[in-house]
Amino acid sequence: MDHGSVDQAPEILLSRFDIEQRVGGLAAEITRDYHGRTPHLVGILKGAWVFMADLIRHIDIDVTVDFLGITSYGSSPHSSGEVKITKDLDSSIEGREVLIVEDILDTGRTLKFLEEVLSVHQPRSLRVVTLLDKRSRRIVPVQADYVGFEIADVFVVGYGLDFDQKYRQLPDVHVLRPVGSR
Ligand code: PRP
Repeated sequence: MDHGSVDQAPEILLSRFDIEQRVGGLAAEITRDYHGRTPHLVGILKGAWVFMADLIRHIDIDVTVDFLGITSYGSSPHSSGEVKITKDLDSSIEGREVLIVEDILDTGRTLKFLEEVLSVHQPRSLRVVTLLDKRSRRIVPVQADYVGFEIADVFVVGYGLDFDQKYRQLPDVHVLRPVGSR
């Protein structure tokens, strides 16, 4: 699929203001649910780091953080189903209250893989927060504990999400449509 630039198709799906408000709401839920505990947030690179950076600044309890590098799409807008670790965790998660931080949940293959890989290390608990959920695209029956926005089956970029490694820096979430389409 030939995608145009965001300049050609600047449709904003979620504005920075919508995102900020919802991220604040998610952080409030997490603060309440983990009261008295110290969740260990594991951000899934690369897409989740912008969301995670905002999320932790709204969480009002102690947290620790780590990152896991995963790739599943390559430069294709559709998931190939192939999941690969590109950067391992820096510290043990045994006995920790692990909260996986994702930018988007799509087919569910990546999350299924993550849950399997991380459970082996015996965290005390394992939950998931995702900014976006394309529930209609699910192939593997997994779900997040905290969801920012459920979205339709459109290709989105910005706020950490890319197409061919571009557009991650955009402050809003945009729909990227194939050239020539409306
Ligand atoms: C995206 C996203 C998830 C995964 C979800 O990562 O961050 O990890 O795809 O897709 P799935 O539910 O179909 O498995 P991507 O491979 O695009 O890498 P990136 O985070 O580096 O952009």
